Amino acid sequence: MDEKMTSGEIAKKAGVSQKAVRLYDEKILDLGCGYSKLWRSNWERIPEGTKISAYDIHGSWADDFAEYLEQNRVGLPKGVNIDLEFSDLEEDATWDKIGSKKKYSMIIAHYLKDELKDYEALIARIPEIMTDDGFFSINGPALCSWDIFFKDALAEEGIVTPFIDCAITEQQRESDAFKALLEKYFNKIRTVKLTSSFRYCDADELLSKMKDDYSGQEKFFAKYQDRIRDCFEKMIASNNGELIIDTEGAFYHCGK
Ligand SMILES: C[S@@+](CC[C@H](N)C(=O)[O-])C[C@H]1O[C@@H](n2cnc3c(N)ncnc32)[C@H](O)[C@@H]1O
Repeated sequence: MDEKMTSGEIAKKAGVSQKAVRLYDEKILDLGCGYSKLWRSNWERIPEGTKISAYDIHGSWADDFAEYLEQNRVGLPKGVNIDLEFSDLEEDATWDKIGSKKKYSMIIAHYLKDELKDYEALIARIPEIMTDDGFFSINGPALCSWDIFFKDALAEEGIVTPFIDCAITEQQRESDAFKALLEKYFNKIRTVKLTSSFRYCDADELLSKMKDDYSGQEKFFAKYQDRIRDCFEKMIASNNGELIIDTEGAFYHCGK
């Protein structure tokens, strides 16, 4: 490949849209980067020329990433730069810094929204700092996978769980409200569902996960926990001692 060609020129030569073949020179903003698994897991595969501005605050896994970055910067591909800033995303001064740099072609805010006092304020700032063909990726509220798993498992045992129905209705309301909020700021929204699998070999661990999820239901658990434990034990045993539970998370890819 001719390294002097821009991604636009490569696209033109290939006769396809620039967005489809953008190979390098992405300008990425990673908000609340934390441990930065996304970058660490792809260190040597980050496309040449990519410039990443990552933001987080001290006292988080980002402190560990700062050390990792200094020790491993030399291993980054040609022209790749990662710039980690410790600065509070709920302060205007941070956005003065972010906005004073050029616009970003990719903006990521993964697992950040629940940590902010006002996540709409952050979302509202994104269109101004995003290129016209850029995209913003944010994950949304949970998709009820655990609720559906628990509800179905207990229904098999004849245990009714109206509080799980309420949790499902509430989560669906939150998902709809979140999508409506994104629609206020972006014209294009694509939902991307990603699966995560959880493995349980011990019924007590699964019971304790369930108790954490429904922490206001002490009376229910006092009455049914032995039956629930038996039910989980049976499920684990009938799956050769390891029960794999697939859950789904929703990410939204937003464009102007
Ligand atoms: C759950 S972690 C997510 C890390 C990473 N984005 C990921 O997907 O794995 C949330 C991160 O947001 C950071 N964070 C929370 N509030 C913040 C704020 N006001 N300003 C900057 N970073 C913040 C936390 O320190 C933490 O590292």
